[in-house]
Amino acid sequence: MQYQTVKGTYDLLPDQLKKFNLLENEFRYFLNLYGYAEMKTPVFEYTGVFQKENDTSDMVTKEMYSFSPNEKDSYTLRPEGTAGIVRSFVENKMYGNSELPLKLAYIEEMFRHERPQKGRQRQFTQMGVEALGDKNPLIDAEVIALGYYYVKSLGLKSLKVLINTLGDNESRVRYKEQLIEYFKPHKDELCFDCQNRLEKNPLRILDCKVDHELDIIKNAPKMELTESSKAYFEKVKMYLDVLGIPYEIDDKLVRGLDYYTDTVFEVVSTRQESGSQATIFGGGRYDNLVKEMGGPEISGIGFAIGVERLVILAEAEGIFEEMMEENNLDAYIINLIPNDLDDGYGLKVCQALRENDFTCEINYYERSLKSQFKTSDRKKARFVIIIGEDEAKNGVVTLKDTLTKAQESVKYEEVVQRMSQLMEDYYVQD
Ligand code: HAM
Repeated sequence: MQYQTVKGTYDLLPDQLKKFNLLENEFRYFLNLYGYAEMKTPVFEYTGVFQKENDTSDMVTKEMYSFSPNEKDSYTLRPEGTAGIVRSFVENKMYGNSELPLKLAYIEEMFRHERPQKGRQRQFTQMGVEALGDKNPLIDAEVIALGYYYVKSLGLKSLKVLINTLGDNESRVRYKEQLIEYFKPHKDELCFDCQNRLEKNPLRILDCKVDHELDIIKNAPKMELTESSKAYFEKVKMYLDVLGIPYEIDDKLVRGLDYYTDTVFEVVSTRQESGSQATIFGGGRYDNLVKEMGGPEISGIGFAIGVERLVILAEAEGIFEEMMEENNLDAYIINLIPNDLDDGYGLKVCQALRENDFTCEINYYERSLKSQFKTSDRKKARFVIIIGEDEAKNGVVTLKDTLTKAQESVKYEEVVQRMSQLMEDYYVQD
């Protein structure tokens, strides 16, 4: 028996979780700004939700945690959020909603059997959005804006937005054939994965991390877009300009999942040390997924941010220092009553404060006044409330204001009011 985390998983200890919560709360603020509603899907689904016929992505072919509880069914731990959201959209007939696009969001754990390294885990968290409804470049630009302005609001600087179009179904089918013809004579020069991708998804060869330096990839033909697909992409770019979003066009950006059509995008870190884990978030449009899952012909677009990668970048840019300012405690109760004589007077004071929305902690153990004061200092308590046997007997507390250093005896039932008064007086003075 090994009492340790499984490779590629990790504990989120309080200080680290605090960072996650800060980033997630800011993300929720942005969801609200843009009118997205958060939802949750199950952690595991039928494998077919993620695995489609002829799927060539690494995620589906190599990285899924699938298991069978019986001979009939195969389940898979969610490796990404989009497929589950689309399954739910169809299953719950959300497309009947008169207000499309439906703008949905999620903050959830995902599972992929990848080779763990910094910024790449087997369990990780994604914050994502999906806008489901008729396609319109206004939505594409707005989705990118949500992600971009969110990461910008965190104060991150070393970021770059990359966009590309994979064309509509017609342009892509034509391009696939063209690429197969082009790469076929060079098959032996390609890596093992790309040799397999050649017939099924030759577009993925273009953004292969192994082969990207090869001349045959650099010189590969470009996609010829249909007029409507070209016009669509032009509009997306125009709206990005309107929204003040700087972007680069990367015509080799294909993205790792098979369902994308037309607009795809990534936001990458430009910091050297981010290396191969530079992609902070990525997404794109998917015209066929809703239909493939038994729904009507409705398009969708979304993205997912890798929270662990965002935390790493935010740490490298030092943005947590300001955000993580300790939350000061309103009051710390120094309890000098020996445990065997303690009838809960301090606890009663503590409860009264909490009921009135003051953050408050109390000392539990028999310790010297000095060491209790030390704790109170460490917790940056604004008020120190000292309780000894005399105070308990007389129904009072000794209240010390750590800002003015003034100390006074206050009746138990007046503590809340007195603390409020002192806080207000100090605020007015300020
Ligand atoms: P993805 O590119 O596979 O897209 O993942 C999105 C982000 O999740 C990545 O950019 C990365 O930050 C993070 N990520 C992925 N794998 C790992 C890992 N093993 N460890 C840590 N972070 C990771 C999707 O998942 C799509 N569902 C995005 C989307 C939404 N497209 C349309 N809608």
